[in-house]
Amino acid sequence: MANTTTTRLLLLLALCVLPALVTAGSLGFRPFRIVGNVYCDTCRCGFETSATTYIPGAKVRLECRDRKTLQVLYSVEGVTNSTGTYDILVEDDHQDQICETVLVGSPLSGCQLADPGRARANIIVTRNNGVLNDMRFANSMGFLRDQALPGCAELLKKYLESDDQ
Ligand SMILES: *[C@@H]1O[C@H](CO)[C@@H](O)[C@H](O)[C@H]1NC(C)=O
Repeated sequence: MANTTTTRLLLLLALCVLPALVTAGSLGFRPFRIVGNVYCDTCRCGFETSATTYIPGAKVRLECRDRKTLQVLYSVEGVTNSTGTYDILVEDDHQDQICETVLVGSPLSGCQLADPGRARANIIVTRNNGVLNDMRFANSMGFLRDQALPGCAELLKKYLESDDQ
């Protein structure tokens, strides 16, 4: 009796549950998001400081290229929200491509020149294996303020001192 029940359960597992799991794994692709910040480098120092501000309405582009030809195969634009964060929805996997986020433009007057060193950020555009986390974070990108804010020299001195320790 027990044996029959076990056999039935195993059969049920083999016929129904396993195929369902496999199907969910291969076809159940859920979109994920590429998230990152765009800042104004108010001290023109090439990195974020406590004086850095974040730019609402900045345009960025996510680009994925073929590894060999470097031809752009996928490109989508995003805009930062009020806290300077963009959030781009990606519908499919680009694991085999070289992807990066690129600065497109800043609406903030006096802060519209992309910092050449922080104008793009590499990102792997594939879903995390974890089921729960659908976000991937790109490094922040920044525009340079035309003139450094007063107080930056003092601020940067502090950063240098804390680096020395
Ligand atoms: C801006 O977008 C980010 C990422 O989606 C989100 O976490 C944040 O709450 C948004 N900020 C506002 C003020 O909506």
